[in-house]
Amino acid sequence: METARIGVTGLAVMGRNLARNLARHGHPVAVHNRTAARTKALVEEFGGEGTFLPAETAEQFVASLERPRRLVIMVKAGAPTDAVIDEFAPLLEPGDMIVDGGNAHFADTRRREAALRERGIHFVGTGISGGEEGALHGPSIMPGGSAESYEALGPLLEDIAAKVDGTPCCTHVGPDGAGHFVKMVHNGIEYSDMQLIAESYDLLRHAAGLAPAEIAEVFRTWNTGRLESYLIEITAEVLAHTDAATGKPFVDVVLDQAEQKGTGRWTVQTALDLGVPVGGIAEAVFARSVSGHADLREASRNLPGPARGTADDAGFADKVEKALYASKIVAYAQGFHEIQAGSAEYGWDIDSGAMATIWRGGCIIRARFLDRIRAAYEADPSTPTLLTDDHFAEALGDAQDAWRDVVATAARIGVPAPGFATALAYYDSLRADRLPAALTQGQRDFFGAHTYRRVDRDGSFHTLWGGDRTEVTS
Ligand code: 6PG
Repeated sequence: METARIGVTGLAVMGRNLARNLARHGHPVAVHNRTAARTKALVEEFGGEGTFLPAETAEQFVASLERPRRLVIMVKAGAPTDAVIDEFAPLLEPGDMIVDGGNAHFADTRRREAALRERGIHFVGTGISGGEEGALHGPSIMPGGSAESYEALGPLLEDIAAKVDGTPCCTHVGPDGAGHFVKMVHNGIEYSDMQLIAESYDLLRHAAGLAPAEIAEVFRTWNTGRLESYLIEITAEVLAHTDAATGKPFVDVVLDQAEQKGTGRWTVQTALDLGVPVGGIAEAVFARSVSGHADLREASRNLPGPARGTADDAGFADKVEKALYASKIVAYAQGFHEIQAGSAEYGWDIDSGAMATIWRGGCIIRARFLDRIRAAYEADPSTPTLLTDDHFAEALGDAQDAWRDVVATAARIGVPAPGFATALAYYDSLRADRLPAALTQGQRDFFGAHTYRRVDRDGSFHTLWGGDRTEVTS
């Protein structure tokens, strides 16, 4: 009986395309789906692309895999993933591997990995980015799990991943939940990137007075420079599109309420737990949330403020480009800070430069820029922040006036720009000699005797605020 090198269960569009990608690369792939009609349709439609071994039952599916078995599950994160694991794990043997290619929460992945490890099964939580097209033509792949499982899986995954300069966009991220953690932060950065682009569009429209088709051209031009990226490229496409039904710009007929599935929110929740400031990602999540509160927006529509007027500044588009680049540097610096903090907390030993390397192609945030981040970590692998890398520090310096001008203009004419504003505030906070946090500490000590440290002596201190205001050591 012919055996498959790897199997994919869950044949919705991502699973189906991943299976096709494997088959197209010459890897015999077992395919299975809860409803067998999908399996049949896949083989009927794409059977010519490679060797597919369709299975109707879980037992058949498992039996068709060579050992150690490599079983990829591509189902909805959450309860459906647990259900599929419960169905397949009893059929597996020690040394076999279950790869979860969904957008699972890394804490779930840690739980599942620990439970399956007890039974000798490798559980490999794997981030996969690039949408349907990526899954088919080469995604960016972020596998966690044991180093041993990567030995058996890595070559296959690297084979089907996107390549940049011949380097696969796939590497072993780290143990247990590391892969899904990095994918989560990838998505958080994706949210931030998208929000900054949206604010750029809004400012070009309402401050520079450009029409969507003209803004599409601006983005096209930006896409030939340092901002070159998948998200800028598709932004131009979306803005240039005309709605067939009305003849209006497509962007004007879409309801302005952004949805989300949760990975951006997880990035922020996790950052809060880790104590990592990711204001850019948080504002991006909140901006989607604000947009969705139709009632709140309706009730507030007549609040006083400037009517959106144009900024009367011929060079404004260039300033927005600088503000966007600077804010983007901040977004990535914050995301990488979170990766480093997660890595330290869970002992994952994640190589940040390697993450930048595998995000250069295949994924939603792929960009020319990531090569710069790779180079920054190559120059100084233990840098506490990307902002101080020579290239980025110079770009931030160069963007200064424009960045501040864009944030000030947005505030003056009443265009919300929370992403730009928080990025600039983060930048100024980090570079400040002194922060008003000293006053916060004084207040905390006043009302709750929470103590403070001093700049000139070690130890914890408390001032007797209700008494004679002498200072005591605590
Ligand atoms: C990717 C994307 C993907 C994500 C969607 C939608 O890397 O391919 O990040 O995983 O789920 O882009 O996310 P939201 O619905 O939360 O915007």
